[in-house]
Order: sequence, then C-alpha cells, then structure tokens
Amino acid sequence: MFLASIEAAPADPILGLTEAYRKDPRQNKVNLGVGVFMDENGNTPVLESVKRAERRLWESEKTKTYLPISGTPEFDAQVAQLVFGADFHGLAGNRVAVCQSPGGTGGLRIGAELLRNFRRGGTLWLPSPSWDNHQSLFTAAGLTVKSYAYYNPATRGVDVEAMCADLAKIPAGDTVLLHVCCHNPTGADIPAAGWERVADIAAQAGWLPFFDFAYQGFGDGVAEDRAGLLAVLRKAPEALVASSFSKNMGLYAERVGAFSIVAASDKAANAAISQIKRIVRVIYSNPPKHGGMLARLVLEDPELRDLWLQELNAMRQRIAGNRQLLASGLHQRSGQDFSFIVHQKGMFSYSGLSDAQVDYLREEKGIYMVKGGRINVAGLLPRAVDYVCDSIIASLAAHP
Ligand code: LMR
Repeated sequence: MFLASIEAAPADPILGLTEAYRKDPRQNKVNLGVGVFMDENGNTPVLESVKRAERRLWESEKTKTYLPISGTPEFDAQVAQLVFGADFHGLAGNRVAVCQSPGGTGGLRIGAELLRNFRRGGTLWLPSPSWDNHQSLFTAAGLTVKSYAYYNPATRGVDVEAMCADLAKIPAGDTVLLHVCCHNPTGADIPAAGWERVADIAAQAGWLPFFDFAYQGFGDGVAEDRAGLLAVLRKAPEALVASSFSKNMGLYAERVGAFSIVAASDKAANAAISQIKRIVRVIYSNPPKHGGMLARLVLEDPELRDLWLQELNAMRQRIAGNRQLLASGLHQRSGQDFSFIVHQKGMFSYSGLSDAQVDYLREEKGIYMVKGGRINVAGLLPRAVDYVCDSIIASLAAHP
C-alpha cells in the first residue's frame, strides 16, 4: 500500500512551534516562535489601512474572475515602485518585471524553479545561518544548496571579511541569496560599506544576486531598507527578488508577495517573465486575488498609503521598545551586556541561547522560541517581559 508506507514527517521547526504552543495548557505560556507581529494585547491586528481598502474592495468589486498569471499590471507596477523605488533606472528602461506570488515563500519557489529550469548545474548559496525554510525550499526545487560565512557569534554582527572572502570565490554560474534587511534569524544586517563590497564582488565574479526582501519597512523604513539592494543593482546587471506583504501589511494569511526580476535589457525581461508565467501556470495557474487587491489599493491611494506608512512605523516603534525592555530586563538581572538586542534589526533577536536552553524554556517555562535561539521580539507582550527575562536567566543557570 502506498499511503501506509509513508512515515510521519517531523514538525516544521517554525510553524510547528505554533501548533505545539496552541496545545500547551499552561496559562503563562509565551509564543516567541513564528515571526508574527503582536500588539500590546497579544493581537495580530488587521491594519486600518487594509481594513479601509477591504471595505472599498467589497463595495466596488464586480467579479472574481481569474487574474492574469503574473497578477494585475497595477499590482505589479506598485510592487516594482515599492521594492526598487520610483526612480530606479531599471523601471524607466522596462528592465524590471514582476509576478504576484503566494507570499514571499511562493516568490522564492518561483525563483527556484526558474533557476532549476535555466541554470542547470549551478549552486544556490545561503548565508550561514539563514531562514530555516530556505534550505528545504531550494533543495526541494532540485537545487544544490551551499552556505557562505555570514554571522559572527563573537561580535553578534556580520563577519564582513569572511563573507566577502566566500562571496569572491563563488563562480559566475551560481546564485547568491542575500537578505536585504532584517536578517532572519540573526537580526544582523550587512552594513552600508559591506553592501558596497558585495556589489563590487557580484559585478566582478558575475554570480546572480537573489534578494529575499520579506521585511521591507521593519528595519529603518521602506526607503531606507532597500539601500543594500540598490547598492548591488548599481553595479550588477541582473537580479532576482522575492518580496512579501505578510509582515509589512500584516497580510500573513492572504499569502501575497511577489517575484521580481531585473534584467539587463527590456527584451531579456520580457523573455524571462514569459517563462515565469509558464512556471506559475503549471504550479498554481494564477494568483489569489483578494490580498493582492488590498496591497494594490493601499499603495495606489495616497491617503491609504500614508496611513499604512504610519501603521508600519508604529509596528517598528513597538518592536524597538520591546528590544529595549528585553535588553534592560536581562541586564538588570545578570549585570551582563545585552545591548546587542537593541541593535539587531527587524522582528528577530538571535539571543545566543543554546538548543538546551531553548528546550528548557519550552519544557519548563512554556516559552516557545526557534532552535538556534531566535526570539520573535515582535511577539513579546508587556505583561510577559518580566517572566521571559526571569526565565531566560534561569535557563542560563540550568544549562550553563
Ligand atoms: C518566520 O521566519 O517565522 C516567518 O518567516 C514565518 C515562516 O513562514 O517561517
């Protein structure tokens, strides 16, 4: 029998934690696992800008017929401007093409399929460490995956020297995945001077940059966060980008993101997008409409857009506040310096907690975080700060 021969898979290292958390009967349990923003009351709210767009859509929508395979041209144009900035030279030259995707993960998968179909034999390089799902996703698409040096636990920052040394050795037929901002899981981003070096190496070595841009707006701001991507694109002729509205518009469950390409010419962009459409057609045919319409309406309307940017700013401020609370709470209890938590970017803090300490926190304290010690700072509630700080200190004592 076929199904009877299949063995159960292990739980997903990130989403599986949410399942385990939901089943945990303890009252004081805390979920710092999956990267989801929570407000002070523990809700992951629908943004007001999105609610208003949804109301407009409900009133004006006349059909639910299929979208074009790559999404509506209006959505694609808004994404291109958001991701690259309205004055990016590639837009005027029609060298950019966008395909709506089911979340950032869907965008990564479309890119993986493109690489598998047209870059046979090439390797995809991930930073060490990277988002848990990167390795599985690219491997499942049939790519060979290797890693380049990135994080230095001693400095809690990017080891720019080691990273550049590795990147310089990568051959022209390979692809390099770069987190544009809010590196997942470390929160350690490449500094501006580091991006200039990455750009020079990409141009010289000739490998293809594949940007994962899942957290635009969660670092320093929507425009500021694209600086690294633009630095590379000033020197490299081509790039792939997977972006997402899950976090910055809170559209997690709507699964709305995009796969974008920057080609060396408009002709090359046209040819590539025609192949991308073939890829989408055979995987899921065409994108779901609702989330993409919401993102488009928010971005198109100046009033909704302003409101969205304010809401995004408020989410960023809350995360910054949480970082302060966590760093000072741990410092007060231990006398040790935890200021690195304040300097990390985005939703996550790479705490330095060992897997034994992470297991202890889950089993003994009901505090869930990803193996490797990644804490979702965006999920920390004011009422849980003391408990989390006490428990982390207890985990350090229990598993020194
Ligand atoms: C995360 O890293 O927690 C998020 O990107 C959610 C996910 O799909 O893993």
